[in-house]
Parts: sequence; C-alpha cells; structure tokens
Amino acid sequence: MKYMIFIGFLVVLGCSKTAVERNPFLIENSFDQRINLALPAFDNLNYAGGSLYWPNGGIRGLLLYNLNGNTILAWEASCPNHELKSCSTLQTDDLVSPTASCACEDYQYSLATGQPLTEGATYSLLFYKVQQNGTQVRIYN
Ligand code: FES
Repeated sequence: MKYMIFIGFLVVLGCSKTAVERNPFLIENSFDQRINLALPAFDNLNYAGGSLYWPNGGIRGLLLYNLNGNTILAWEASCPNHELKSCSTLQTDDLVSPTASCACEDYQYSLATGQPLTEGATYSLLFYKVQQNGTQVRIYN
C-alpha cells in the first residue's frame, strides 16, 4: 500500500510540472563566443542603445544590444516566427534603434525585450546568456 501511495505521489508531481515551450522553428546549437568591447569592431556596444549584428555564434549569428550602458543583451539573429529561410536573418534597423527586422515578412522585434512588435508574431527572440567582465564579454547557451 505504501508503495502505491508513493507511485501516486510521483504521478501527481509529474503532472504538475509546467511544460517549457520551445520554439518549433529554431533548433539551438551549442556555442560559446567571446568578444572584446575595446576592439573597434564593437564600438557600437559601448554606449546605451547601441546595437550590432555579429555573425559568429547562435544559428544565424547574434544581435547584440547595450541596454543601459552596462548590460549587453544577446539575441539569436534568426527570425523566430517562421522556419529558416535565406531571408530570415534579422538585421538591426540602424545603429541606435532598439529594433531588428526580418526581410521575409517584415516582422520587427525589440532588442530591449526580445518581444515581437508586429501583430500576428507569436514567438520572441531567442535569448542567450551573457557574462561581462570589464570589456570582456562571453556569450553562450
Ligand atoms: S521569416 Fe521572418 S517574418 Fe517570416
């Protein structure tokens, strides 16, 4: 009887877990990139609101964004709302705009939150982990 109660408890626990919804269009690759903000290529990331497309890491590269002068955010550059296509690599809208756009169907995303800004878009940008130590920035998943 004790054994049956234990099994029932495990079943209840197993059913109460919230499923994590994965993006069905993007299969995540494992990567570990390091950049140095002191290099001229990363000048745009040294001030609040600066953004940059970096082709290394992730599936189709990274969208990097300086949120507030001290915090770098890293997003996957693949459009998260359709399967991968030749046109679905997002580009920052300009060097000081907090948005990125997809050339396929013109979906737009916030680089500050990752949220889609276009009606009908379901998925947010994929977020990657960032560690900062001075000018050294590690981006990984
Ligand atoms: S692939 Fe980006 S909007 Fe469809």
